[in-house]
Amino acid sequence: MRQRLLTHATIATMAPGDAPYGLVADGAIALENGEIAWCGPTGEAPAAYRDWEHQDLEGRLVTPALIDCHTHLIFGGNRAREFEMRLEGASYEEIARAGGGIVSTVSATRETTESDLLTDALTRADALIAEGVSAIEIKSGYGLDINTELKMLRVARRVAEARPVRVRTSFLGAHAIPPEFKGRADAYIDDVCIPALEAAHAAGLADAVDGFCEGIAFTPQQIARVFDKARALGLPVKLHAEQLSNLGGAKLAAGYGALSADHLEHLDEAGIVAMAEAGTVAVLLPGAFYTLRETKVPPVALLRERGIPIAVATDCNPGSSPLASLLLAMNMSATLFRMTPEEALAGATRNAAKALGLTDTGQVAAGRRADLAIWNVEHPAELTYRIGFNPLHERIFGGDA
Ligand code: NIG
Ligand code: FE
Repeated sequence: MRQRLLTHATIATMAPGDAPYGLVADGAIALENGEIAWCGPTGEAPAAYRDWEHQDLEGRLVTPALIDCHTHLIFGGNRAREFEMRLEGASYEEIARAGGGIVSTVSATRETTESDLLTDALTRADALIAEGVSAIEIKSGYGLDINTELKMLRVARRVAEARPVRVRTSFLGAHAIPPEFKGRADAYIDDVCIPALEAAHAAGLADAVDGFCEGIAFTPQQIARVFDKARALGLPVKLHAEQLSNLGGAKLAAGYGALSADHLEHLDEAGIVAMAEAGTVAVLLPGAFYTLRETKVPPVALLRERGIPIAVATDCNPGSSPLASLLLAMNMSATLFRMTPEEALAGATRNAAKALGLTDTGQVAAGRRADLAIWNVEHPAELTYRIGFNPLHERIFGGDA
């Protein structure tokens, strides 16, 4: 059992309240049994902690470790050629309709062995961990047949065995219609998606269920059938909604008590009201907005007004967001979406935890897991302000034993 006392830190606890960032100046944190035992001003640290292993942080900033709550970290191949095609004028939707896009990654993922998928995913997980990330959500959705969906989810679990990081898996069988079911989306839902979900659940491989509600993917009615099954299995849901158009996906998801609705560029008032009522987190993905050169910004001011928690994630995937930097996603959320640096940090900590249904992380507070990031910066706004610069000094994961 390791007992540690961190002293003389600027602590952005990210506890909700009046103090910006929940800041504690010249603070101390006591860590025991992998949890935070105490947090407060250094001068007020109880005498009991004085014999503990002691680390003077010399004024460095401590935040909750970061959480990337929306990734497609596991995939075969890459889509650099599609990137070139978009530069030549083709749109994301045109490429998808012509059999490229998600479906091209499906072929590559089906052909890649489990161990090669793991090796590639670990390079991306390592990039996130190097920026102080302690929890990553990973989706399936590039298999679109039962075996490959399960293969992806097994690889996701193996990421957490191979690295000191928590993984939450999302079953995303309703991501795209595979070529063998072209024009038969309902049959795909019945014959593949739902049986794959049942198999993933039976194997303990799915922590949540996701879908893509869009003209190039599935209708609200088809998503509802997948969500009905999720509900029957007792799994929480989330949805890629209102990314390229408005099909009412956010409202649908909120009706199922969704943990989150993600993307949301085309979110309308009805969706916002439904999300507020359901306590659904808005996960914004500026890497996809940037890569696809979208022009319609998600309605951040309205989300704020309604008190909807906003999270920020990388959406790391080979097509719409080849991004493995959560710090850069935070920067983009400020520059592209006008989120404040405080909102960006809350979006990658407290609200990201909520989007994953994790109640034991995302804030520096007694009783939470000792998942912390120590940064070589003075003020938390610096984390969002810089571009292409990683000031991580040390990451602490579960108190490091
Ligand atoms: O979150 N929107 C749908 N799914 C992914 C894109 C996946 C891909 O293009 O491979 C997303 O942007
Ligand atoms: Fe996504």
